[in-house]
Amino acid sequence: MTEMMQKKIAELEKRNELAMAGGGPEKKAKHKQGGRLTARERLDVLLDPGSFVEMDRFVTHRCTNFGMEKNKPYGDGIITGYGRINGKLVYVSSQDFTVTGGSMSRTQANKICKVMDLAIKNGAPFISINDSGGARIQEGIESLGGYADIFTRNVMGSGVIPQITAIMGPCAGGAVYSPSITDFVFMVENTSYMFVTGPDVIKAVTHEEVTKEQLGGAATHSQKSGVAHFTAKDDKHCLLLIRELMGFLPSNNLDDSAALATKDRPDRIVDSLNALIPDNPKKPYDMLQLISEVVDEGYFLEIHKHFAQNIIVGYARFNGRPVGIVANQPQVLAGCLNIEASRKAARFIRFCDAFNIPIVSFVDVPGFLPGKDQEWNGIITHGAKLLYAYAEASVPKVTLITRKAYGGAYIVMGSKLLRSDVNLAYPSAEIAVMGAEGAVNIIQREAIAKAKDPATERARLTAEYEEMFSNPYVSAELGYTDEVIEPALTRKRIIDSLEMLKNKRDIIPPKKHGNIPL
Ligand code: HXC
Repeated sequence: MTEMMQKKIAELEKRNELAMAGGGPEKKAKHKQGGRLTARERLDVLLDPGSFVEMDRFVTHRCTNFGMEKNKPYGDGIITGYGRINGKLVYVSSQDFTVTGGSMSRTQANKICKVMDLAIKNGAPFISINDSGGARIQEGIESLGGYADIFTRNVMGSGVIPQITAIMGPCAGGAVYSPSITDFVFMVENTSYMFVTGPDVIKAVTHEEVTKEQLGGAATHSQKSGVAHFTAKDDKHCLLLIRELMGFLPSNNLDDSAALATKDRPDRIVDSLNALIPDNPKKPYDMLQLISEVVDEGYFLEIHKHFAQNIIVGYARFNGRPVGIVANQPQVLAGCLNIEASRKAARFIRFCDAFNIPIVSFVDVPGFLPGKDQEWNGIITHGAKLLYAYAEASVPKVTLITRKAYGGAYIVMGSKLLRSDVNLAYPSAEIAVMGAEGAVNIIQREAIAKAKDPATERARLTAEYEEMFSNPYVSAELGYTDEVIEPALTRKRIIDSLEMLKNKRDIIPPKKHGNIPL
């Protein structure tokens, strides 16, 4: 090495050391209390070892307000670049709370936009790790402009590349809107929160008292609002969960590389399923059990696990290929559809459709949940989202009805009538306009009223209706059901169907975009 180069490299190393120092040892130590990782440690866990390449390490802010020009730390509170997850390229940003509270400056936003642009152009996912006090107060509106640039890229990249946000600290005010446009939001229990207006503003305006955790912690957003798709017990758990999810996702909307070899035989017969559906149609059973028994190696990654548990969504593989699973859960609200379930499943289906992931639906749905709360809060509009998402989706769609499929909910849940490709049913399926008891109470009201013993007459007429309609054969006669199958054959038939649909092409009339009921 020449002497000159030796000097230059020493200078570079000095600068690198400064950049690595972040906010310094004291701030790092404070930040790490309670088991939190630093911004760089987070990237180390998220990415394959040694794969991270940093960009813009020496960027500094340009603000001169409030004496800011005296402190211009390298990197400006964010680390950006690219790396690999299980060998696949991803672009990343990780806010460093130890530097100016990770707050968003114009230059911080520019760094994020640079990697987002690269992600969109190169067709690779973008993962944002958020830990920030929000807009850099000293910069004012310049910072807001930075947020707007990020929102724009979130929207432009939507449906082109998977976008993921991990909330690992504060996220307040308008800053919440980038995460909520992204496809999956992860939160860490007890150390992260998200809200548009915080507890102090709420107290001043409405006199309500609420803690940050109650208002916008991980539990709140995973159970009540549905803003968070995943919660993790600590930073490391959160980052490993992201790696797990990435395993199911393609890199972009034209990529088909997420398949994995499996030792699970495609023609595996699952005899235990012949005993899953209870004899009594009112008795619940666990739909998760059915899912885990039929998918490859029993591996199902549930999304929105704690939100709207009456519907299950998540990823699994059939014969190595990723699929999105949507399933009613008879154990919760008898599997009825409601506002939250409709929103949850509709967004999931639209993600799958945008990224060419086939949809497999398991149906046991008695109908939409009745009630004035549901009506007043817009079940009409929200339920329509689910119908719209299923009808619009052009990916392979395979639906299996295990038991109840009544009325509008039957149509909505991936029925043949909404452009589903293959509809299967168990012999225990009841595909009808409504449950027998309800139907008889309406159409046989007079006959029951006139009967000597109305209760006995109602029971007789109900049994008669059940005999006529509570089965899969009326639907099979009409061709609405393609095949009635023995439950033990579930895995085999779903795989047969997906293989048969592998090259599906489906044309939607050209349009700017549809107008999904929002
Ligand atoms: C500049 C900030 C900052 C911010 C924190 N800091 N937030 N600097 N702009 N927004 C700095 C602090 O001054 C401090 O600097 C360091 O970061 C650590 O902050 P602390 O307050 O010591 O940390 P902590 O006690 O953990 O409290 C964290 C916090 C608090 C709750 C996030 O910092 C806070 O309330 N910050 C302001 C939040 C806020 O109102 N943001 C603007 C919202 S408006 P020193 O040098 O002392 O270490 C917004 C609009 C976005 O975000 C709109 C997008 C469209």
